[in-house]
Amino acid sequence: MIAPDALAGLELARLGRRLETRDEVDSTMEVAWSLAAEGAAEGLVVVARVQRAGRGRQRRPWASPPGGLWTSVLLAPGHPEFPAPALPIVGGLASAEAIEETSGLAAQVRWPNDCVVAGRKLAGVLVESRNLPGLGQRFVMGLGIDVDVAPDDLGPDLAGIATSMSAETGRTFDRTTVLRALVLRLDRRYDELLAGATTGIEVAWLRRSSTLGRPAELKTPEGVLSGRIVGITIDGLITIDLGAGRIRRFRGEHCTLVKEIR
Ligand code: BTN
Repeated sequence: MIAPDALAGLELARLGRRLETRDEVDSTMEVAWSLAAEGAAEGLVVVARVQRAGRGRQRRPWASPPGGLWTSVLLAPGHPEFPAPALPIVGGLASAEAIEETSGLAAQVRWPNDCVVAGRKLAGVLVESRNLPGLGQRFVMGLGIDVDVAPDDLGPDLAGIATSMSAETGRTFDRTTVLRALVLRLDRRYDELLAGATTGIEVAWLRRSSTLGRPAELKTPEGVLSGRIVGITIDGLITIDLGAGRIRRFRGEHCTLVKEIR
Protein backbone atom coordinates (compact mmCIF):
# COMPACT_ATOMS: atom_id res chain seq x y z
CA MET A 1 0.00 0.00 0.00
CA ILE A 2 1.27 3.44 -0.89
CA ALA A 3 1.67 5.63 2.23
CA PRO A 4 -0.32 8.89 2.56
CA ASP A 5 2.97 10.85 2.75
CA ALA A 6 4.42 9.19 -0.37
CA LEU A 7 4.85 12.52 -2.15
CA ALA A 8 6.57 14.28 0.78
CA GLY A 9 9.69 16.27 -0.02
CA LEU A 10 9.06 16.63 -3.77
CA GLU A 11 9.41 20.14 -5.16
CA LEU A 12 6.08 20.53 -6.90
CA ALA A 13 4.57 23.65 -8.46
CA ARG A 14 0.90 22.67 -8.64
CA LEU A 15 0.27 18.98 -8.24
CA GLY A 16 0.49 16.53 -5.38
CA ARG A 17 -0.14 18.79 -2.40
CA ARG A 18 -2.84 16.33 -1.37
CA LEU A 19 -2.59 12.56 -1.82
CA GLU A 20 -5.55 10.26 -1.17
CA THR A 21 -4.67 6.58 -1.00
CA ARG A 22 -7.25 3.84 -1.25
CA ASP A 23 -7.17 0.06 -1.16
CA GLU A 24 -9.94 -1.06 -3.56
CA VAL A 25 -12.15 1.33 -5.51
CA ASP A 26 -14.30 1.10 -8.60
CA SER A 27 -12.16 3.74 -10.30
CA THR A 28 -9.81 6.43 -9.05
CA MET A 29 -11.56 8.71 -11.58
CA GLU A 30 -14.78 8.55 -9.55
CA VAL A 31 -12.95 9.14 -6.26
CA ALA A 32 -11.28 12.22 -7.78
CA TRP A 33 -14.58 13.50 -9.20
CA SER A 34 -16.40 13.17 -5.90
CA LEU A 35 -13.61 14.98 -4.03
CA ALA A 36 -13.61 17.63 -6.79
CA ALA A 37 -17.35 18.15 -6.32
CA GLU A 38 -16.67 18.72 -2.60
CA GLY A 39 -14.26 21.51 -3.61
CA ALA A 40 -10.88 19.73 -3.61
CA ALA A 41 -8.12 21.96 -4.96
CA GLU A 42 -6.14 21.45 -8.14
CA GLY A 43 -3.37 18.92 -7.79
CA LEU A 44 -5.22 16.32 -5.72
CA VAL A 45 -3.74 12.89 -6.46
CA VAL A 46 -5.76 9.72 -5.86
CA VAL A 47 -4.08 6.35 -5.93
CA ALA A 48 -5.59 2.90 -5.39
CA ARG A 49 -4.09 -0.58 -5.04
CA VAL A 50 -6.88 -2.20 -7.08
CA GLN A 51 -9.70 -0.90 -9.29
CA ARG A 52 -12.80 -3.04 -9.70
CA ALA A 53 -14.10 -1.06 -12.67
CA GLY A 54 -11.09 0.76 -14.07
CA ARG A 55 -11.97 2.70 -17.17
CA GLY A 56 -10.01 3.23 -20.35
CA ARG A 57 -10.52 5.45 -23.37
CA GLN A 58 -13.57 5.05 -25.54
CA ARG A 59 -15.52 3.32 -22.77
CA ARG A 60 -13.19 0.36 -22.71
CA PRO A 61 -12.55 -1.36 -19.38
CA TRP A 62 -9.06 -1.01 -17.89
CA ALA A 63 -7.77 -4.10 -16.08
CA SER A 64 -6.40 -2.91 -12.74
CA PRO A 65 -5.06 -5.82 -10.66
CA PRO A 66 -2.67 -5.40 -7.70
CA GLY A 67 0.87 -4.41 -8.72
CA GLY A 68 -0.09 -1.58 -11.06
CA LEU A 69 -0.03 2.14 -10.42
CA TRP A 70 -3.63 3.37 -10.77
CA THR A 71 -3.85 7.09 -10.21
CA SER A 72 -5.95 10.16 -11.02
CA VAL A 73 -4.99 13.82 -10.78
CA LEU A 74 -7.41 16.74 -10.47
CA LEU A 75 -6.66 19.72 -12.73
CA ALA A 76 -8.25 23.15 -12.67
CA PRO A 77 -6.36 25.19 -15.26
CA GLY A 78 -8.79 28.04 -14.82
CA HIS A 79 -8.61 29.94 -18.11
CA PRO A 80 -10.74 29.33 -21.21
CA GLU A 81 -7.77 29.53 -23.63
CA PHE A 82 -6.20 26.51 -22.00
CA PRO A 83 -5.13 23.95 -24.67
CA ALA A 84 -7.12 21.00 -23.29
CA PRO A 85 -6.33 18.68 -26.28
CA ALA A 86 -2.71 18.74 -25.11
CA LEU A 87 -3.52 17.13 -21.76
CA PRO A 88 -3.43 13.50 -22.97
CA ILE A 89 -0.13 14.23 -24.69
CA VAL A 90 1.32 15.72 -21.52
CA GLY A 91 0.09 12.70 -19.52
CA GLY A 92 1.58 10.20 -21.97
CA LEU A 93 4.88 12.06 -22.06
CA ALA A 94 5.12 12.28 -18.26
CA SER A 95 4.33 8.56 -17.99
CA ALA A 96 7.05 7.68 -20.51
CA GLU A 97 9.56 9.90 -18.70
CA ALA A 98 8.71 8.35 -15.31
CA ILE A 99 8.90 4.79 -16.66
CA GLU A 100 12.26 5.46 -18.27
CA GLU A 101 13.64 7.19 -15.17
CA THR A 102 12.65 4.39 -12.80
CA SER A 103 13.32 1.34 -14.99
CA GLY A 104 15.76 2.40 -17.71
CA LEU A 105 13.31 1.09 -20.33
CA ALA A 106 13.16 3.01 -23.61
CA ALA A 107 9.58 4.21 -23.32
CA GLN A 108 7.86 5.59 -26.41
CA VAL A 109 4.56 7.39 -26.84
CA ARG A 110 1.94 6.16 -29.28
CA TRP A 111 -0.53 8.77 -30.42
CA PRO A 112 -2.56 10.06 -28.76
CA ASN A 113 -1.64 8.95 -25.26
CA ASP A 114 -0.36 5.41 -24.93
CA CYS A 115 3.00 4.62 -23.56
CA VAL A 116 4.69 1.66 -25.24
CA VAL A 117 7.85 -0.34 -24.76
CA ALA A 118 9.07 -2.51 -27.61
CA GLY A 119 5.71 -2.01 -29.34
CA ARG A 120 3.59 -3.18 -26.39
CA LYS A 121 1.41 -0.94 -24.28
CA LEU A 122 2.70 -0.38 -20.77
CA ALA A 123 0.66 2.67 -19.68
CA GLY A 124 -2.42 4.63 -20.69
CA VAL A 125 -3.93 8.03 -20.00
CA LEU A 126 -7.58 9.01 -19.78
CA VAL A 127 -8.64 12.64 -19.50
CA GLU A 128 -12.19 13.51 -18.43
CA SER A 129 -13.69 16.97 -18.24
CA ARG A 130 -16.74 18.16 -16.31
CA ASN A 131 -18.33 21.46 -15.48
CA LEU A 132 -18.94 21.33 -11.74
CA PRO A 133 -21.84 23.44 -10.44
CA GLY A 134 -20.51 26.52 -8.69
CA LEU A 135 -16.89 25.52 -9.30
CA GLY A 136 -16.38 25.63 -13.07
CA GLN A 137 -14.50 23.36 -15.42
CA ARG A 138 -12.32 20.65 -14.00
CA PHE A 139 -10.28 17.89 -15.59
CA VAL A 140 -9.34 14.55 -14.10
CA MET A 141 -6.34 12.90 -15.68
CA GLY A 142 -6.15 9.17 -15.03
CA LEU A 143 -2.81 7.46 -15.47
CA GLY A 144 -2.42 3.71 -15.37
CA ILE A 145 1.03 2.12 -15.41
CA ASP A 146 1.52 -1.63 -15.46
CA VAL A 147 4.35 -1.75 -12.96
CA ASP A 148 4.57 -5.23 -11.39
CA VAL A 149 1.69 -6.80 -13.26
CA ALA A 150 1.96 -10.14 -15.05
CA PRO A 151 0.66 -9.48 -18.58
CA ASP A 152 -1.46 -12.66 -18.21
CA ASP A 153 -3.36 -10.96 -15.36
CA LEU A 154 -4.55 -8.25 -17.76
CA GLY A 155 -6.91 -10.64 -19.51
CA PRO A 156 -6.85 -12.60 -22.78
CA ASP A 157 -7.77 -9.57 -24.93
CA LEU A 158 -4.44 -7.95 -24.15
CA ALA A 159 -2.24 -11.00 -24.76
CA GLY A 160 0.71 -9.91 -26.86
CA ILE A 161 -0.50 -6.30 -26.83
CA ALA A 162 0.21 -5.20 -23.25
CA THR A 163 3.31 -5.50 -21.11
CA SER A 164 4.61 -4.28 -17.76
CA MET A 165 7.76 -2.85 -16.23
CA SER A 166 8.49 -6.15 -14.47
CA ALA A 167 7.80 -8.26 -17.58
CA GLU A 168 10.17 -6.10 -19.64
CA THR A 169 13.02 -6.04 -17.11
CA GLY A 170 12.68 -9.20 -15.01
CA ARG A 171 12.78 -6.95 -11.90
CA THR A 172 10.19 -5.66 -9.47
CA PHE A 173 9.62 -1.99 -8.71
CA ASP A 174 8.55 0.09 -5.75
CA ARG A 175 5.26 1.74 -6.74
CA THR A 176 5.96 4.70 -4.45
CA THR A 177 9.15 5.45 -6.42
CA VAL A 178 7.23 5.26 -9.70
CA LEU A 179 4.43 7.46 -8.32
CA ARG A 180 6.92 10.10 -7.15
CA ALA A 181 8.63 10.16 -10.55
CA LEU A 182 5.26 10.35 -12.31
CA VAL A 183 3.88 13.21 -10.23
CA LEU A 184 7.13 15.17 -10.51
CA ARG A 185 7.30 14.76 -14.30
CA LEU A 186 3.62 15.57 -14.73
CA ASP A 187 3.89 18.63 -12.50
CA ARG A 188 6.75 19.98 -14.63
CA ARG A 189 5.10 19.31 -17.97
CA TYR A 190 1.73 20.67 -16.80
CA ASP A 191 3.42 23.81 -15.51
CA GLU A 192 5.10 24.25 -18.93
CA LEU A 193 1.74 23.82 -20.62
CA LEU A 194 0.10 26.46 -18.43
CA ALA A 195 3.00 28.82 -19.12
CA GLY A 196 2.42 28.38 -22.88
CA ALA A 197 5.80 26.66 -23.32
CA THR A 198 4.36 24.05 -25.64
CA THR A 199 7.35 23.74 -27.99
CA GLY A 200 9.43 21.87 -25.42
CA ILE A 201 6.57 19.47 -24.76
CA GLU A 202 5.96 18.93 -28.46
CA VAL A 203 9.64 18.29 -29.22
CA ALA A 204 10.02 15.87 -26.28
CA TRP A 205 6.84 14.07 -27.29
CA LEU A 206 7.75 13.80 -30.96
CA ARG A 207 11.21 12.47 -30.08
CA ARG A 208 9.54 9.61 -28.26
CA SER A 209 6.80 9.06 -30.81
CA SER A 210 6.37 5.56 -32.16
CA THR A 211 3.75 6.90 -34.58
CA LEU A 212 5.31 9.81 -36.46
CA GLY A 213 6.71 8.93 -39.86
CA ARG A 214 5.33 5.39 -39.68
CA PRO A 215 2.74 3.58 -41.72
CA ALA A 216 -0.54 3.25 -39.85
CA GLU A 217 -4.25 2.65 -40.13
CA LEU A 218 -6.38 5.46 -38.79
CA LYS A 219 -10.11 5.21 -38.10
CA THR A 220 -11.52 8.59 -39.10
CA PRO A 221 -14.91 10.16 -39.84
CA GLU A 222 -14.11 9.26 -43.49
CA GLY A 223 -13.57 5.57 -42.67
CA VAL A 224 -10.40 3.60 -41.98
CA LEU A 225 -7.51 5.16 -43.89
CA SER A 226 -4.13 3.57 -44.50
CA GLY A 227 -1.10 5.75 -44.97
CA ARG A 228 1.87 7.29 -43.25
CA ILE A 229 1.49 9.58 -40.25
CA VAL A 230 3.36 12.72 -41.24
CA GLY A 231 2.25 15.22 -38.64
CA ILE A 232 1.09 15.30 -35.04
CA THR A 233 0.62 18.51 -33.13
CA ILE A 234 0.13 19.21 -29.48
CA ASP A 235 -3.18 20.92 -30.17
CA GLY A 236 -4.60 17.58 -31.21
CA LEU A 237 -4.24 17.39 -35.00
CA ILE A 238 -3.00 14.33 -36.83
CA THR A 239 -1.99 14.31 -40.50
CA ILE A 240 -1.92 11.21 -42.65
CA ASP A 241 -0.36 10.92 -46.10
CA LEU A 242 -2.46 8.54 -48.17
CA GLY A 243 -0.07 8.57 -51.11
CA ALA A 244 -0.57 10.03 -54.59
CA GLY A 245 -0.49 13.52 -53.09
CA ARG A 246 -3.53 12.95 -50.89
CA ILE A 247 -3.01 14.37 -47.40
CA ARG A 248 -5.74 14.43 -44.76
CA ARG A 249 -5.75 16.15 -41.37
CA PHE A 250 -8.11 15.28 -38.53
CA ARG A 251 -8.81 16.33 -34.99
CA GLY A 252 -7.47 13.65 -32.66
CA GLU A 253 -10.68 13.23 -30.72
CA HIS A 254 -12.42 12.12 -33.91
CA CYS A 255 -9.88 9.39 -34.73
CA THR A 256 -8.45 6.16 -33.43
CA LEU A 257 -5.16 4.62 -34.39
CA VAL A 258 -6.30 1.18 -35.48
CA LYS A 259 -2.87 -0.17 -36.08
CA GLU A 260 0.73 0.90 -36.31
CA ILE A 261 2.25 -1.08 -39.11
CA ARG A 262 5.75 -2.07 -38.09
C1 BTN B 1 -6.42 3.98 -21.91
O1 BTN B 1 -5.32 3.79 -22.42
O2 BTN B 1 -7.44 3.49 -22.40
C2 BTN B 1 -6.52 4.84 -20.67
C3 BTN B 1 -6.34 4.04 -19.42
C4 BTN B 1 -6.40 4.86 -18.16
C5 BTN B 1 -6.37 3.99 -16.91
C6 BTN B 1 -6.27 4.79 -15.65
S1 BTN B 1 -5.90 3.77 -14.25
C7 BTN B 1 -6.22 5.11 -13.19
C8 BTN B 1 -7.42 5.84 -13.74
N1 BTN B 1 -8.64 5.25 -13.25
C9 BTN B 1 -9.34 4.68 -14.23
O3 BTN B 1 -10.41 4.09 -14.06
N2 BTN B 1 -8.73 4.84 -15.41
C10 BTN B 1 -7.49 5.59 -15.26
